[in-house]
Amino acid sequence: MQKIAICGKGGCGKSVTTRLLADGLRSRGYRVLVVDADESNTGLSRMLGFDHAPKPLLDFFGGKEKVESELSALISAGASEASIQLLKNGISTKNIPLEYLFESDGIRLVEVGKILMSLEGCGCPMGIVSRSFLNMLQLDRDEVALVDLEAGVEHFGRGVETGVDCVLVIVDPSIDSVQLADRISDMADQIQIADVWVVLNKIPSKNIADRLISRLTECGVKVIGTIPLDEEIFESCLDGRPIKGRVASQNVDEILNFLFP
Ligand SMILES: Nc1ncnc2c1ncn2[C@@H]1O[C@H](COP(=O)(O)OP(=O)(O)OP(=O)(O)O)[C@@H](O)[C@H]1O
Ligand SMILES: [Mg+2]
Repeated sequence: MQKIAICGKGGCGKSVTTRLLADGLRSRGYRVLVVDADESNTGLSRMLGFDHAPKPLLDFFGGKEKVESELSALISAGASEASIQLLKNGISTKNIPLEYLFESDGIRLVEVGKILMSLEGCGCPMGIVSRSFLNMLQLDRDEVALVDLEAGVEHFGRGVETGVDCVLVIVDPSIDSVQLADRISDMADQIQIADVWVVLNKIPSKNIADRLISRLTECGVKVIGTIPLDEEIFESCLDGRPIKGRVASQNVDEILNFLFP
């Protein structure tokens, strides 16, 4: 599993889980590339401990208007020399310029792009960049990419998941979250991604976990781990501090044991 998409309902904990998995992978010796593919929310770079985000890949590929006319057309329309070289040779973390790729403690971050202004149009160009970037990204054997996605399923419509190996759906204790996991599982199936698993998050008790597992099992979706409702995580998010998630580290181990046996 080298490219892992992380998706689910709004606020279920996609970004928190991305952070916790990145930490867990680092302690196992993997080099981690976090891809912030959420065009709306801006909190991920802070959760990872960066005081600001890298320049967006959207700019690297020539800006929104150029990307809108599809990445392939963009090449002939005159993207920068450097980005054309990457498209020809495939993208690796070694050849992304440093202003677009930040690193801290072995965790690297790229950001696809954010919608910043009213009336600036839809996020489709970000979808094109995410899909193309993930499809072209070449990782070394010890590298793992974690892709933190926008809430909901629009990214499936844009084909972003065609560039990943597996999909993790984060499910918090709500029926909406369970139903979305069921839908995502079907959508992944339509693009031949067989590996779709659920991680439960914000779980206050074993009873709630068991209820969710039984509902998800009825939908045919496998739960591979549980992250508890953790006051330390909650407070870090409230204060805008990087998440450490010491309480959850054992739970993260369980998830990584499944993904990287
Ligand atoms: N395990 C947890 N324990 C306690 N609080 C949590 C936990 N996971 C997430 N939260 C709380 O839920 C909030 C949303 O988490 P997060 O930003 O990771 O969700 P998200 O799915 O990425 O949201 P969005 O859809 O907006 O991108 C956090 O700000 C935090 O307050
Ligand atoms: Mg998020």
